[in-house]
Amino acid sequence: MNRVYIKTYGCQMNERDSEAVAAMLRDKGYSMVASEKDADVILLNTCSVRDQAEQKAIGKAGHVTARKRKNPNLLVGIMGCMAQNRGNELLDQLPDLDLVVGTQKFHRVPEHLDAMIATMQGQGPRPETIVDLDEEIGSQNTIRSHVEDKRQISAFVSIMQGCNMKCSYCIVPKTRGEERGRPIESILEEIRELVAKGTREVTLLGQIVNQYGVREFPFVDKKSPFVQLLEQVNDIDGIERIRFTSPHPVGFRQDLIDCYARLPKLCEYLHFPMQSGSNRILKAMRRPYTIEKFRHIIEQLRAVRPDVYISTDVIVGFPGETEEDFELTRRHFEEIGFDMAYLFKYSVRPGTTAEPMGDPISKGIKEERNQLLLDILGRSSLARNQSLVGKVEEVLLEGPAKRGEGMFMGRTRGHRKVIVPASDRLVGELVPVRLQSATASTLIGELMLEGIENHREAALS
Ligand code: SAH
Ligand code: SF4
Ligand code: F3S
Repeated sequence: MNRVYIKTYGCQMNERDSEAVAAMLRDKGYSMVASEKDADVILLNTCSVRDQAEQKAIGKAGHVTARKRKNPNLLVGIMGCMAQNRGNELLDQLPDLDLVVGTQKFHRVPEHLDAMIATMQGQGPRPETIVDLDEEIGSQNTIRSHVEDKRQISAFVSIMQGCNMKCSYCIVPKTRGEERGRPIESILEEIRELVAKGTREVTLLGQIVNQYGVREFPFVDKKSPFVQLLEQVNDIDGIERIRFTSPHPVGFRQDLIDCYARLPKLCEYLHFPMQSGSNRILKAMRRPYTIEKFRHIIEQLRAVRPDVYISTDVIVGFPGETEEDFELTRRHFEEIGFDMAYLFKYSVRPGTTAEPMGDPISKGIKEERNQLLLDILGRSSLARNQSLVGKVEEVLLEGPAKRGEGMFMGRTRGHRKVIVPASDRLVGELVPVRLQSATASTLIGELMLEGIENHREAALS
């Protein structure tokens, strides 16, 4: 009764939450299985950010609960954002669910499962569905454990929960609640533990990561709590690379820009959501910046780190987005020259302030606009990768690549994916790689063996 399969939808924060649930379950004697067919318990960690994300998870939950007819001992739970968003209403659609757990209650999953399994093993009646959606003070401090038996070369660390912004299209403030930061010391402790288990790279996670702690912790020497945190993570021996996601233009000040000049472990890579290139639409989205301000921050960053890689999020088809508005988005998107981007077609979310505006832009137009941006992205991404061909980059080898024996996958500091022939013993090492060929998404290279010797010597001296 103790084999658990977790399927995760949504963002990195959800991935991190699932991993923490897996770690907590293992501590209680459960085992994680890679296939739902082998599982006694199936948990879906869900996302509500777009309608499609919810429909996917509901469809999956329908399939999975149908299997309970053949196997009445199977337990099925929904966790995360859609559980929080839809709550009890989910049971109308999916009456066979056993567990509905919200975003502040992940740490309660083991005890809920224990209780259900105890009831079933006592040959009692089918346990009642448990719905646990309340807010919980301090829940941001519960996403701390990592899976013990798997070395994570690159690990996610949630430094906060919730979001206090009010972007008019977005459901996250509803699903994730008020913004709450973890104490710096607890985050550093988590990272030190990761290092002891072999982690070399951390990505700090928050809905607006640069807002970290602004309400809870003081500024010191005009440095925000987030900058103080970056400095202290940079000082941890064994951590080689630091990334974070997602920052917001509001609060992206000089103290953070300066970090790119002075903190050697902070990678020259930034995910910086733009959403739109039209000030009129940004205003309607309740994004409190102009495209000029957004571009100014990128210019400041490029002034201190000319080689910085930048990715973004854009929504096309927000209600009222005219041809002129989209043309502005297209122009700024092209001029900035993003190295990567997540492009989204607008989806109405119930309860948001944009909901009453409906969804007047047709699917076809959204598709067309999306495609125009994808074409630009394909070109800029390819050009950036091609500019690296012939050069040597430092690559952190993460593990075997999907394609073929002896091939390994790693990333450059700019987060470009590299495939290289290597060996298991180099996993977790920073290795110099000469890049030989490029597509828009992937670089192929070869190890510079001499460079590795030097790197090792440097590391030992
Ligand atoms: N906190 C992050 C974003 C989290 S949601 C930030 O503010 O940058 C990830 C992305 O989903 C957003 O950046 C946005 O581009 C997209 N998104 C959010 N709500 C959406 C909606 N209703 N329709 C389409 N895309 C949406
Ligand atoms: Fe959503 Fe805006 Fe908060 Fe990001 S900042 S999670 S887009 S409300
Ligand atoms: Fe989705 Fe929740 Fe993340 S709505 S994008 S899983 S915060």
